[in-house]
Amino acid sequence: MSTQTDSVQDNIDMNIYNELIAKDSDYWSFKEDTKRQKSHVYFNYPAMMVPAMQSELISCIVKNVSNIKTVLDPFVGSGTVMAECMYHGLSFQGLDINPLAILLCKAKKGPFYEKAIKNKIDSLNSKIDSDDKLSIDVSFVNRDKWFTKEVLQSLSRIRRAILDENMLWARRFFWVAFGETIRQSSNSRTSTFKLHIRSKEDIDSREIDVIGKFKSILRNNYEHFCLHKSDLNDANELSKGSYKHQIKLHLGDSAKKIPCMNGKKIDLIISSPPYGDNHTTVTYGQFSYLPLQFIPTKDIDNKIPQDVLNITTYIDKLSLGGSTSKDINRKVCKELFDISPTLKRIIADLSVEHKDKTYKVINFYEDLRNSLKNCLSVLRKDGYMVWTVGNRNVGGISIPLDKILQEILEHYGSKLVLKLDRDICNKRMASRNKNTKTMTKEEILIMRKVV
Ligand SMILES: C[S@@+](CC[C@H](N)C(=O)[O-])C[C@H]1O[C@@H](n2cnc3c(N)ncnc32)[C@H](O)[C@@H]1O
Repeated sequence: MSTQTDSVQDNIDMNIYNELIAKDSDYWSFKEDTKRQKSHVYFNYPAMMVPAMQSELISCIVKNVSNIKTVLDPFVGSGTVMAECMYHGLSFQGLDINPLAILLCKAKKGPFYEKAIKNKIDSLNSKIDSDDKLSIDVSFVNRDKWFTKEVLQSLSRIRRAILDENMLWARRFFWVAFGETIRQSSNSRTSTFKLHIRSKEDIDSREIDVIGKFKSILRNNYEHFCLHKSDLNDANELSKGSYKHQIKLHLGDSAKKIPCMNGKKIDLIISSPPYGDNHTTVTYGQFSYLPLQFIPTKDIDNKIPQDVLNITTYIDKLSLGGSTSKDINRKVCKELFDISPTLKRIIADLSVEHKDKTYKVINFYEDLRNSLKNCLSVLRKDGYMVWTVGNRNVGGISIPLDKILQEILEHYGSKLVLKLDRDICNKRMASRNKNTKTMTKEEILIMRKVV
């Protein structure tokens, strides 16, 4: 039986629907809005979301739904959603399995002491310039494969100067620019997210001014730090240089546990999960491996396992669908197929010629189902969700993540409010990856938890 409250909620859904559907898929592509700004430029993380699009979706929901105060991103990545939530004055909770993602978010959340950071940058640069030691301060497996001796000496100079800074918030800001410098100066190709060594000729002929590169990235990040701060100031969201609302960031697996925020339920979830297991889509872990060898883990989080640093594939194995086990529990499989007829059909199709590929897909969706269940357990009734997803190919078959995600969420008591699609034209995907190269569209699902 429908109640008056149901009809109020249905009206809110209808308002959101009407407001968003009025703009066509061309609009949502944000073709003109390709230049990243503010904290979104700090680090070139893979598959970053489009800030303007997330901002518009947040504005629409905040305007139409009363009392939206807290947002969760269970796959927080480099914090695109987080930064946009800050401009809307929302409290925020983010989780990621990748320590580098947590570092990026911690650096973006402030504090915003503009004069202090400027002085600290000047002092950091002088320390780097006056250090003439040639020692190499880090050691890890295959270090000399991934870096030349000269690059390691310069990176060590920068690292010593950063370690000399006594404020953690400033060190984090510096580590982010340092991380980007490491990525650009290593012997791994930048055309792929995987660790992939350059040719010997390429390595021998490259001339890398590591210190110049670091200073230039840091200068650029500082300029965008000031813009980030200025926008937060204009929105009246800063108090004595710090963001007024709470931001909590957890290094963790959203398929295992998502904490409540101060014991209270979340009002809104906005996220973009990985589109498939990391090994065959975007290897966030391999991408982060080299920077994490140089950045002291205690400056990121004190719970980082040592294995993260020892094995290049460790983070990717921990991520959604990362297990390589072929030992799928029949009961789990049946449950998943009952929940998602689309997944059942896809696995049947895939089994015809690619039985070996079905395990990975099932492992991924079982982990995703657990994450979604955990998300719903911390979301308040009538809380909203915005999921941005893309459909990848496996063995030539398109896997409709949008439909499967919708079926899982509906099974656990949610309702689809609206689905939008957009062309991907300014998102940094793995263009050389055979599984994602045909991915040109993204779907945005707006859903509401109804029970
Ligand atoms: C597409 S990115 C997220 C983009 C992000 N929402 C933003 O605002 O830019 C996907 C992220 O999911 C993370 N991830 C993968 N498996 C995870 C898991 N089991 N728990 C938490 N995070 C995970 C990856 O490390 C990656 O950073």
